Amino acid sequence: MCKMKESDHKSHYSHYWEMGFRFSDEEKVDKLKNSITVSRSRMKVWMTRAITTVLLWTCFVQLMALGELWRPKLFITWPSRCCHFDSPMALQSSSSSLPYKVFLPPKRVYKSNGYLMVSCNGGLNQMRAAICDMVAIARYLNLTLIVPNLDKTSFWDDPSDFEDIFDLDHFILSLRDQVRILRKLPPRLERRFESRMIYSLSPISWSNMSYYLNQILPLVQKYKVLHLNKTDARLSNNGLPIEVQKLRCRVNFNALKFTSQIEELGRKVVQMLRNKGPFLVLHLRYEMDMLAFSGCTRGCTNEEVDELTRMRYAYSWWKEKVIDSELKRKEGLCPLTPEETSLVLSALGVDRNVQIYIASGEIYGGERRMESLASAFPNLVRKETLLKPSDLRFFQNRSSQMAALDYLVSLESDIYVPTYDGNMAKVVEGHRRFLGFKKTVLLDRKLVVSLIDQYSNGLLGWDEFSSAMKEGHSDHNGSSKTRVVIPDRPKEEDYFYSNPHECLEAWE
Ligand SMILES: *[C@@H]1O[C@H](CO)[C@@H](O)[C@H](O)[C@H]1NC(C)=O
Ligand SMILES: *[C@@H]1O[C@H](CO)[C@@H](O)[C@H](O)[C@H]1NC(C)=O
Ligand SMILES: *[C@@H]1O[C@H](CO)[C@@H](O)[C@H](O)[C@H]1NC(C)=O
Ligand SMILES: *[C@@H]1O[C@H](CO)[C@@H](O)[C@H](O)[C@H]1NC(C)=O
Ligand SMILES: *[C@@H]1O[C@H](CO)[C@@H](O)[C@H](O)[C@H]1NC(C)=O
Repeated sequence: MCKMKESDHKSHYSHYWEMGFRFSDEEKVDKLKNSITVSRSRMKVWMTRAITTVLLWTCFVQLMALGELWRPKLFITWPSRCCHFDSPMALQSSSSSLPYKVFLPPKRVYKSNGYLMVSCNGGLNQMRAAICDMVAIARYLNLTLIVPNLDKTSFWDDPSDFEDIFDLDHFILSLRDQVRILRKLPPRLERRFESRMIYSLSPISWSNMSYYLNQILPLVQKYKVLHLNKTDARLSNNGLPIEVQKLRCRVNFNALKFTSQIEELGRKVVQMLRNKGPFLVLHLRYEMDMLAFSGCTRGCTNEEVDELTRMRYAYSWWKEKVIDSELKRKEGLCPLTPEETSLVLSALGVDRNVQIYIASGEIYGGERRMESLASAFPNLVRKETLLKPSDLRFFQNRSSQMAALDYLVSLESDIYVPTYDGNMAKVVEGHRRFLGFKKTVLLDRKLVVSLIDQYSNGLLGWDEFSSAMKEGHSDHNGSSKTRVVIPDRPKEEDYFYSNPHECLEAWE
C-alpha cells in the first residue's frame, strides 16, 4: 500500500533526509569506535561489537523516525503519513531546480470518450475545489480534460490563468495515471470553440456520478467536446465511490501545487513569522464583496451601507437583494466584524502578544474598522506589512495569487481562525485536517453574537462571557470527526472539502 512512501522519500526529501541521517550517524559511529578501542579483552571486544550492532541498529531506527519528523512539513504537499492513495506519484516539477530524481506515474491507457472543457467560476478556493471535482468526473467518464479555464470576471477580477497560479506541468504529469489532460483542444476543435460552436451547459449542482454517467457522458459522446460553463459544487459531498473521493483528495493535496514563485514567497512569510515564534492566522473575511453579497452591514456608516447595497443590486447573479442585516446576524449568517472578532479572540484567551497574521484582501472600512483589533492585539501583521512592495509586485492586482499566498500561510499556522465559513475557510480547514489535525477554531457564530450581545448589554460580566465562549468552542477545534450527511439537503451538510474524512488517517 505504501508505494507513495518510497518514492516520496526518494524524490522530494531524499537530500534533506540523507544529509540529516549521515551527519548524525557519523557522529554516533565515532563515539562507538572510541568505546571499542578502549576495551581490552577479546571477549569484551566481542561483547562491545554485539552491543554496538544493537546500538547502531537502534540509532538507525530512531533516525529513520527522526527523518520523518524533520521533513519540512508543508510545501511539498505530502505529510509523512503518506499512503492514502495507491499510486507512485511523487515527481519533480519542471519549475523546481532541486536535483532530485523524477518519478512519473505510468500513463493510464484508455479509450477517450471525448473532450471535457470547463470554465470555473468564483474565487480561488471555490475554483480549487471545482478543479478537483472536474478531474474526478473526467477520470470516471474516461474523458480527455482540457486544462480548466479560471474565472476572470468575478468580483476578484483576476486575469490569471491556471499556470499563473498552479504548477501546470506537475498537475498534468502527476495525474497521468488517472486521466489525460491537455493544455488545449486539438486545433480543429479549438476553432469550433472559438466560434462558439461547442455544446455548453451548467451541470446540476450536487450531482452524483450516475448523473454524469447517464446525462453528461452521452452528450460528450454525441458532440465530441462538451463545455461545462459552471463548476462550483457540481459534485455531491457523499454517495460517491471511495475511489472518486480519494481522487478528489489526491488532486487537492498533491496535484494542485502553487507555482514555485508563490510557494517561495509563502515559505518566506512563514519563515519570518516562525522566527518570532508561534502565530495565529485570522482569516478576517471582511471584504467588500462579502458584505455586499451577504448584506451584513453592522458597524458600517450610512454611506457604506448605500455603497454595499448598490453593489448587491449591480451583480445580477447575487439573487438575494432585500436583506435584514440584524436578523441575519442573529442567525449566525454574517461574517464577524473586526470588532466582534477582537472580543472573541480575547474571550477565548488568545495571548495579547501573539503574532496574528491577517489573511484577507482589503478590509472594508480600512483602519477605522481595524482599530479595536489592533489595540487588543498589537502584533497584527499582513503580507503587505511583512514583505517589501518589490516582493509583491508580481502579485499586484492578482487577487487569486494573493489569496494563494494567504492559503499557504494559513496551512502552516499554529492556529487558524476563520470568521466566516466561506470557501477558503472550508478548504483550508480540510487541508489542515489532512496535514494532521492542526488546530482550527470553528466559531459558532450564532452563539458568538448572542454572547457578545449579552456582554455588551451588561447581562454577562467578562469572566462569564469568556468562559461561555471557551466552553462553547472546546470541541470546535478541527479534530477528527465524521462528515455530517443530510440526504437531499447538500447545502446544509458538511462540505466534502472541509472534512474529506475518507482521506484522513484517523478515519481509516
Ligand atoms: C473506462 O475505461 C475502462 C477501461 O480503461 C472501462 O473498464 C470502463 O468501463 C470505461 N468507462 C466508461 C464510462 O467509458
Ligand atoms: C451555460 O450554458 C447554458 C447553455 O448554453 C446557458 O444557458 C447559460 O447561461 C450558461 N451559463 C453561463 C454561466 O455562462
Ligand atoms: C444519484 O442521484 C440520483 C438523483 O439525482 C438518485 O436517484 C440516485 O439514487 C443517486 N445514486 C446514488 C448511487 O447515490
Ligand atoms: C492595479 O489596479 C489599479 C486600479 O484598479 C491601477 O490603478 C494600477 O495601475 C494597477 N496596477 C498594476 C501593477 O497593474
Ligand atoms: C477537540 O475537540 C474534541 C471533540 O470534538 C475533543 O475530544 C478534544 O479534546 C479537543 N482537543 C483539544 C486539544 O481541545
